[in-house]
Amino acid sequence: MEISLIPQDLKSHPMSPNGDEVQTIRVGVIGCGYWGPKLARNFHDLPGTSLGAISDMRPDRLNEMKQLYPETHTTHNHRDLLGDGIDAVAIATPVHTHYALAKEALLAGKHVFVEKPLASGSSQAMELVEIAAQKNLTLMVGHTFVYNPAVEAVREIVLSGQMGSIYYLNSTRANLGLLQPDINVMWDLAPHDISMLSYILNRQPYSVSARGATYVNQYRNLHEVVYLSILFDGGIMANLRLSWLDPVKQRCLTIVGSQKMLVYDDIAENKVIIFDKGVDVHPYSVTEEQFRASYRHGEETIYPITWREPLLVECEHFADCIRNQKQPRSNGQQGVNVIKVLETAQRSLQNGGVELIVEY
Ligand SMILES: NC(=O)c1ccc[n+]([C@@H]2O[C@H](COP(=O)([O-])OP(=O)(O)OC[C@H]3O[C@@H](n4cnc5c(N)ncnc54)[C@H](O)[C@@H]3O)[C@@H](O)[C@H]2O)c1
Repeated sequence: MEISLIPQDLKSHPMSPNGDEVQTIRVGVIGCGYWGPKLARNFHDLPGTSLGAISDMRPDRLNEMKQLYPETHTTHNHRDLLGDGIDAVAIATPVHTHYALAKEALLAGKHVFVEKPLASGSSQAMELVEIAAQKNLTLMVGHTFVYNPAVEAVREIVLSGQMGSIYYLNSTRANLGLLQPDINVMWDLAPHDISMLSYILNRQPYSVSARGATYVNQYRNLHEVVYLSILFDGGIMANLRLSWLDPVKQRCLTIVGSQKMLVYDDIAENKVIIFDKGVDVHPYSVTEEQFRASYRHGEETIYPITWREPLLVECEHFADCIRNQKQPRSNGQQGVNVIKVLETAQRSLQNGGVELIVEY
């Protein structure tokens, strides 16, 4: 059954600068397991979007969503969301289903938001980008961290040059779980770091090398722990620790520059702290006897951040891109680039951690 009637939305509608009411984007959400309900909540609550319909193959998930949104149509068949009553779909299903669902939605003329990673491979992802371009539709990927106000602040700080030249970055994304049945920890978590670091540095990964291990799910050989090294254009080194087997949830990025250092902890109350710290080695210390390094232990500054839920910013951006025919910050091509980095890192993982250049 196609959706053709959308219940009256009681939210206040945003106005354009000339006072006209802006078009409400009616979004259907496909996949309501762990993450989909968060997308549904934002599209339901945001002025300018409405939750047009919800699809999941599991009756228990649909029942729960029906309790939350009794006025919204729920269905086990995603094709019911491809009729006239829906402008856009948001896909939050397992990764191996992204390509087929997104392709079907684009071919039906829907704008598409796909959770990360965009697809299981770069050729599939590139096909989605081409279809979206041919049909003049918005294709956006859920690289949530590029919509995080703290990441926006870190990018501003780095690109302002106040940290001096950037030496290296270290990112930890660890927790106990959630193990995925179809992808390893790198494909699950590294899309966040790759998109976030590329955005902060305004540079693309040049080469990668990855090592990892499978401890508990040896039946499927899906790594639960991966150490991924990325060399960015211009020689900036980044190290990522990605783990589903860690006692403490950590979402922490350290950036070391020649003038200043910075710690961004997404879980902390004060998310971004700038350290006026550094080391200078004196030019005349040419021999070991003369060697002298001086350490600067200056002020620690908490960087003020106006916090908004990143997912809300992301959903708002999706609607804005559709309405104003803008390219999303995390567009399909960014999704392709992230997958190319992952594919190259996967080859490295299978070849003893050899360094490989990413071919875009
Ligand atoms: N952006 C983020 O921070 C973030 C966080 C978590 C997960 N995710 C992404 O969200 C996606 C889903 O992850 P999850 O943890 O919610 O998985 P999940 O397994 O908890 O939920 C997936 C749901 O999709 C449903 N589904 C599968 N095929 C379907 C189909 N054809 N039609 C309708 N429903 C279908 C399943 O029944 C299930 O309820 C993944 O791509 C994941 O990477 C993103």
